[in-house]
Amino acid sequence: MTDLGSAHVLVLGATGGLGGAIARRLAASGARLTLSGRDEDRLRSLAAQLGEVGPDAVVTTVAADLTRPDGPSSVVRAAHDAAPLTGVVNAAGVVAFGTVEDLDDDTLDEVLLLDLVAPIRLARAAIGVLPEGGFLAQVSAVVAEKAMPGMAAYSAAKAGLTAFDAALATELRRRRIRVLDARPPHTETGLAARPVAGEAPRLPQGLDPDAVAARVVQALAGDERDLPSSAFTA
Ligand SMILES: NC(=O)c1ccc[n+]([C@@H]2O[C@H](COP(=O)([O-])OP(=O)(O)OC[C@H]3O[C@@H](n4cnc5c(N)ncnc54)[C@H](OP(=O)(O)O)[C@@H]3O)[C@@H](O)[C@H]2O)c1
Repeated sequence: MTDLGSAHVLVLGATGGLGGAIARRLAASGARLTLSGRDEDRLRSLAAQLGEVGPDAVVTTVAADLTRPDGPSSVVRAAHDAAPLTGVVNAAGVVAFGTVEDLDDDTLDEVLLLDLVAPIRLARAAIGVLPEGGFLAQVSAVVAEKAMPGMAAYSAAKAGLTAFDAALATELRRRRIRVLDARPPHTETGLAARPVAGEAPRLPQGLDPDAVAARVVQALAGDERDLPSSAFTA
């Protein structure tokens, strides 16, 4: 078991639907958090809310754009300088809709940079500071298991991330740093309503973000190494 009560966890995408719910669940488990997103004001307001869960819940906030080459490493450095890190949860991401014919370069760049390249840069930075017994959790998506037409770039980015996580998990086994790849199904965070391109198709009712967050935090505490989409609906 991982004692979250003694952990300092960096949560990226903390201003988002899933990241915020994961941060609240971690804080309720007694973890101390560094919160990261792009908007400092929203980070401060989340930190104030979490301060009500526990006065020491938030170590610091770090605003950064993860699509910049130095974004992921600068966030890890700032968090670790504030207090030694024991875990990292990456819930930053964007989605894009539309056919491959309509996929323009800016959209392709943004989706691949944030959903695939940034998590790889983040992992590279995190494994330089995480201790034995530490963890890195990456929020991939169900489309990593079943690619969706009209979401080809997003599906490719998430499938790439899940493949990366599997290779990294094996590399880090001897160092006892755990990599958790989580692949939730559609969840009602509003992500699909703010795509970087295109328009979402009609989607069935998604999962409750708090239930998804609870399952991720349960996996972190319980030393799980993989959260396939089926783990969220069982
Ligand atoms: N919702 C779903 O149906 C679903 C299902 C499976 C997997 N996921 C994955 O779960 C993760 C979180 O999604 P969500 O539903 O919580 O979406 P969300 O509510 O839109 O949150 C996205 C988060 O990513 C951050 N972000 C966006 N662009 C960024 C950038 N360039 N640099 C740094 N941070 C950036 C946002 O920060 P700002 O506040 O600065 O915009 C926000 O904190 C994503 O990776 C998504 O692919 C979502």
